[in-house]
Amino acid sequence: MSTDSWALSVGDQESTAKSIGKLRIKEAGDANIRQPDGDGDKSDEEEKEDRATQSLLNKLIRSNVVNNTNQVEVLQRDPNSPLYSVKTFEELRLKPQLLKGVYEMGFNRPSKIQENALPMMLAEPPQNLIAQSQSGTGKTAAFVLAMLSHVDPSLKWPQCLCISPTYELALQTGKVIEQMGKFYSEVKLAYAVRGHKMDRGVKIKEQIVIGTPGTVLDWCVKLKLIDPKKIKVFVLDEADVMIATQGHQDQSIRIQRMLPKGCQMLLFSATFEDSVWKFAERVVPDPNIIKLKREEETLDTIKQYYVLCNSKEDKFNALCNIYGAITIAQAMIFCHTRKTANWLAGQLSEEGHQVALLSGEMVVEQRAAVIERFRDGKEKVLITTNVLFVSNLSVCPSTGIDVEQVSVVINFDLPLDKDGNPDNETYLHRIGRTGRFGKRGLAVNMVDSQRSMEILKTYEKHFNKKIGRLDTDDLDEIEKIAN
Ligand SMILES: Nc1ncnc2c1ncn2[C@@H]1O[C@H](COP(=O)(O)OP(=O)(O)OP(=O)(O)O)[C@@H](O)[C@H]1O
Ligand SMILES: [Mg+2]
Repeated sequence: MSTDSWALSVGDQESTAKSIGKLRIKEAGDANIRQPDGDGDKSDEEEKEDRATQSLLNKLIRSNVVNNTNQVEVLQRDPNSPLYSVKTFEELRLKPQLLKGVYEMGFNRPSKIQENALPMMLAEPPQNLIAQSQSGTGKTAAFVLAMLSHVDPSLKWPQCLCISPTYELALQTGKVIEQMGKFYSEVKLAYAVRGHKMDRGVKIKEQIVIGTPGTVLDWCVKLKLIDPKKIKVFVLDEADVMIATQGHQDQSIRIQRMLPKGCQMLLFSATFEDSVWKFAERVVPDPNIIKLKREEETLDTIKQYYVLCNSKEDKFNALCNIYGAITIAQAMIFCHTRKTANWLAGQLSEEGHQVALLSGEMVVEQRAAVIERFRDGKEKVLITTNVLFVSNLSVCPSTGIDVEQVSVVINFDLPLDKDGNPDNETYLHRIGRTGRFGKRGLAVNMVDSQRSMEILKTYEKHFNKKIGRLDTDDLDEIEKIAN
């Protein structure tokens, strides 16, 4: 395969990107992957994604609810009241139209967080809730079901109000509402997002409004399209992403203050740093609290090695030797700069590999498409400079791939923080797997200087796991590591 065919496969990725959804964040036309140029030396840090983009990518890529084996922690406002949890959707006595919608979405049973959150949200009298669990565990689906359950379809005004950090995230949640409410056609949904121009004083008839804080505030205050006093359920989704945007925190609190006493307040977040807590406590009075600890990655099922190299060419040769000796189902290769990533993609393509390249200059949908193709096994090698959403990407071989094959993570350059120091968390995210769902894996670190050797040693020490030397000139030795 020549470099041309690499370009062709990039074209292929891009056309997939165009079909992935209706969302347009930027025009894709100007987002072709650039060849190395002046800014080719940008480091990971400079390519850091904002949290909203990351969150959106997670949603575009995800196909399933994220399993979690940790215990749900529940803190009840009234510790004496009985704690309900459900194992089936039937137990919730949902309206038949909603139950049908839930099943049509392929949900067989409530997710871990939903087991506790749903009975709390559906209880009478309404209870306030702050819920935290990692991305993909079913928070959005849970509050969508609660909103749809609380609506009175015969009343033609907004009763449920949900705010989301960005236009794109609001549209994603809107889609979930539309899907789940598919058989409940009396309930209507309005989008309070930029570009949805409304005249002053025209009353909104839709029972559910989803939007971004600025537009929702305009609709409530300036344009008076929504009467906030009639809202029964208020949802603030992705609180962690919300507060990362300047101004959103204040706008959200202004909206919350207009709501009547007795309005049910619900707040969701994928992470819970102190700032999110402080914000949550201002938005949600007297809350019940549900927390589900993140399923941690471990290195227990990973064999780690390092290879000594002198140059990027050397690293590439080592990589070729590894490929020559073992059958690799899928590999993910991390480079420090775009320039290296581009170069390596070209080299590997010339060797006949089907390479996917993930780069910060691609628009969100293109990146989602690249990851999706890789996840589906359409490309076997993914080269990336992006550190941020890899923790959500599993490189375990998907079904259908021979179990004798291994999946490999290559640190073509070792992960570093922005000051050039070891970055344990990123190292773990790159090569770790979530414990019980983990399959065995192989990680190879390319060490090219005294400094990178020192860094490798700190990873070894930090995780207390041996990283053995691999001589890539010795094919027999490489073969052994695959066993
Ligand atoms: N009970 C369920 N059974 C099967 N799939 C589910 C269930 N609940 C949610 N899902 C699916 O799991 C995925 C993640 O759900 P959801 O978007 O609600 O998670 P989330 O916790 O809100 O994630 P994020 O923090 O990224 O917003 C979605 O594809 C959703 O359709
Ligand atoms: Mg969500």
